[in-house]
Amino acid sequence: MNYIERRHKSVSSRIIPVQPFDYVVFGATGDLTKRKLIPALYHRFKDGQFDEQSRIIGVSRTKLTDAEFQQAARDSIAQFVEKDYQDDKVIDRFVSTFSYVANDVTDPAKWGDLSANLRDDPKIVRAFYLAIAPDLFGPTCEYIQKQGYYRRDARVVIEKPLGHDLQSSIEINGEVSKIFAEDQVYRIDHYLGKETVQNLLALRFANILFEPVWNSAHIDHVQITVAESVGAGTRGYYDESGALRDMVQNHMLQLLCLVAMEPPASDAANALRDEKLKVLRSLKPIANGDVGKMTVRGQYRNGSVDGQVVPSYQDELPDDRKGSRMETFVALKAEIENWRWAGVPFYFRTGKRLASRASEIVIQFRNIPHSMFDHAEGAPRPNRLIIRIQPDEGVKLLMMIKDPGPGGMRLREEPLNLSFAATFQERTPEAYERLLLDVIRGSQTLFMRRDELEAAWMWIDPIRRAWDAATDQPHLYHAGTWGPSAAVALIERDGRTWHEEN
Ligand code: BG6
Repeated sequence: MNYIERRHKSVSSRIIPVQPFDYVVFGATGDLTKRKLIPALYHRFKDGQFDEQSRIIGVSRTKLTDAEFQQAARDSIAQFVEKDYQDDKVIDRFVSTFSYVANDVTDPAKWGDLSANLRDDPKIVRAFYLAIAPDLFGPTCEYIQKQGYYRRDARVVIEKPLGHDLQSSIEINGEVSKIFAEDQVYRIDHYLGKETVQNLLALRFANILFEPVWNSAHIDHVQITVAESVGAGTRGYYDESGALRDMVQNHMLQLLCLVAMEPPASDAANALRDEKLKVLRSLKPIANGDVGKMTVRGQYRNGSVDGQVVPSYQDELPDDRKGSRMETFVALKAEIENWRWAGVPFYFRTGKRLASRASEIVIQFRNIPHSMFDHAEGAPRPNRLIIRIQPDEGVKLLMMIKDPGPGGMRLREEPLNLSFAATFQERTPEAYERLLLDVIRGSQTLFMRRDELEAAWMWIDPIRRAWDAATDQPHLYHAGTWGPSAAVALIERDGRTWHEEN
């Protein structure tokens, strides 16, 4: 089947092939490439979104031949792609697009030569994926430019940690922007690539129902929970970052933006990002004196998760880090100071080693202004909209209905339930599948703009500083629970409770 035929066929199957590309992946032997990038590209290849006209060029310090890199790609597919999707013929074709160049960007004497791998054809999209530590972004961009690989239409993909505070984020972005213009930079927050997160946009802006009540007059508060049952593990990075930088600064603030932003005029990248930026800039600063009241940080002790006994965070740390006060749990109350949201708290909760893996956004509406059912059994409860991000993706609207049958008016709460697994047969693509090919399409809508990132740091920094200056310890919680009791107190002080599935 040629390109046109395939395109025709795939439109009906909703797979739209992209232009051929040369994707250069720096950090080709690293964890991100193995676990996420190669499996994601494999799925897109298998679905026919690109073919052997495209090239994937691995670059890293290790010396490897093309054949060894192709074998590494096979290993990554064997390990990280579900068995049902592993197809030997497709894998052979897929890895034939892989080549490899050894390179040490920090030493011009060891710079690798990509000229035989890159094609000088303007119809072939050129993208550089920097799956490397941010201190190498500057030297890598310089390498790209000095070697003559830069093109005005080339794209560069970078990903967190994009700094550990505002200042370092300005420096990292500054390095990249010496070579690449903002419209060439794709900053990944993989939460934006999740189907359910994009579905938030559809829910809010493709339905008339919600928007008229999406404001402080009708919404009492919002809860955003990203709970993980995994531990922090032995990732050295985590003990420097902690949950505030690892999850809140990026993923959770992005979720907040999508919930709270004004309707953009279009889905053009800047239309959406302008609105997200306004939300971030309207966040009420949590000033020093308020940090104790508005935030809770926790750290897990040993406990039991999914029937397995697991060690404490302290026990997992190497000797030179023992005694670390780094948080593995955060709960906080955020407020947005604008017309739509004044007075509506947004409660965040995220942590490692919690009772289960569950991410969701709960919109708690206000109660009805007057009940005609005072005599009925069961008082009307306020509606709740639950947007389940993972697992069991879906949307649930808790509503009051009449309990069927005779015996007077009895009210009860039941969900209107849209379960994605029950509604759609196809597998849900991983976030990286969408994002990697959006780079090729030249669509920046699901990527963070520099000013968004900086606005997020501006809000996070004072919290971090106050925690670092504090002499108290994080609240300890047992692995396998929902975090420290202080997190429950944070919301209960306001007369509210964390949402629990019944
Ligand atoms: C990453 C964090 O950005 O997101 C990890 O660094 C975290 O600590 C992960 O586990 C969660 O992503 P997901 O897609 O599993 O929810």
